[in-house]
Amino acid sequence: MKPQSEVDIVPAAAAKRDKNSHLGTAKKVKFDEYYTQWADVEREMNAYLEYNPDVFRGKVILLPCDDPEWSNFAKFFALHFMDFGIKTLISTSYAPNSNPDKIGYQPTLFETESPAFDATKTRANGKKFTLEWKDINGDGIINIDDLQWEYLEGDGDFRSSEVTALRDEAHFVITNPPFSLFRQFMTWVIGGGRKFSVVGNNNAITYNELFPHIMANELWKGATGNTTDMVFAVPKGTVVNEKDRLKAEKMGYPSDDERDYTRQGNSCWFTNIDHGRRHEPLQLMTEADNIKFSKHKEIRGVGYENYDNFDAIEVPYVDAIPSDYGGMMGVPITYLDKHNPDQFTILGSSEGDYPATKKYSKKERVVDGVRKKSNSGTLSGVVRVDSFGPGNHFDVGYPVRGVYKRLFIRRKGGA
Ligand SMILES: C[S@@+](CC[C@H](N)C(=O)[O-])C[C@H]1O[C@@H](n2cnc3c(N)ncnc32)[C@H](O)[C@@H]1O
Repeated sequence: MKPQSEVDIVPAAAAKRDKNSHLGTAKKVKFDEYYTQWADVEREMNAYLEYNPDVFRGKVILLPCDDPEWSNFAKFFALHFMDFGIKTLISTSYAPNSNPDKIGYQPTLFETESPAFDATKTRANGKKFTLEWKDINGDGIINIDDLQWEYLEGDGDFRSSEVTALRDEAHFVITNPPFSLFRQFMTWVIGGGRKFSVVGNNNAITYNELFPHIMANELWKGATGNTTDMVFAVPKGTVVNEKDRLKAEKMGYPSDDERDYTRQGNSCWFTNIDHGRRHEPLQLMTEADNIKFSKHKEIRGVGYENYDNFDAIEVPYVDAIPSDYGGMMGVPITYLDKHNPDQFTILGSSEGDYPATKKYSKKERVVDGVRKKSNSGTLSGVVRVDSFGPGNHFDVGYPVRGVYKRLFIRRKGGA
């Protein structure tokens, strides 16, 4: 799967370059300018607040890779600064000169009319916006109008010593980071030992930067956005996949004079802030009841297959996890959306995080009964089958069928 930044979206300038070079279709390029919608920020933050109404009280919140002039993160936290009892809100933005995606940058009036405006720094430096318990305009409330700003020494790169120092002073780091630097961002944010909430992509679950922390119960999926699309604004004129644009429009985000919109089906939140969803137990049937009543034909009247190369049973659907099975089970990665650490332990994944019981010396791909010259194809978790039928199989001396990426879990208190 491609990283999110390379999926079906391309800035207009790059599309034009491609057209000019007679390549016909726009090439997919790295693109990081996706702006998170208020409703998505609100839903996720509300889940933390429902679990602990004082979660942000007296705390310093850093919003890196941001820009209050665009960002709903900054607007959301500034609006709730007083009722959440936030101590300090800091948002940092990235210098336009360092950001090839920032096409046609123009400083806002907010900046140019400020005595601090510097025509060189506006393009070369990042900015730092701070909201404290200071009612700057004396209107009796502290909100976005009381934001103070200054240029950063550097370009606002989250990896800079300057932004890293802000991370180290903060209690919370919250943002939607550049997708093209997602792995580096997660290493940076986890390395800081802060509480965080970060928009990412479901495919990142098994990344080395994340999965060991997920297994150690130090990082988990957010409470929201897991099974629904997330809509993102993109700079006006960005070429967006028409299907995604229409879907975003249907979800209530038609393009307007300032922005276009797209949607991502696999966006999600990664966090180490506690929320109630992860303490709700999954409601499951016993193994015997699944075999009798499961709605899945693969299970009903059939039971569970054993892997040929892991000491576990294959559970192809999250709602078919048997509640009373004490051994190891391979489950789809969407299980993480429902994971309750008091109910199951995550032991590893079929992608190399858990040792296989068998290594195959022979591996020949057989598709629809036909032997292929190229043997490429995943052979992580496999189950033994009677014969090479329709679909993808491997001959490892006998026929096996590969399964999708799986997480291995075991019931807490299981055998
Ligand atoms: C996915 S956008 C999200 C923006 C904003 N946080 C939001 O959610 O609306 C990521 C932002 O990170 C900025 N960015 C790109 N590379 C960066 C870097 N190395 N350090 C800091 N920010 C960066 C880009 O300017 C971009 O606006």
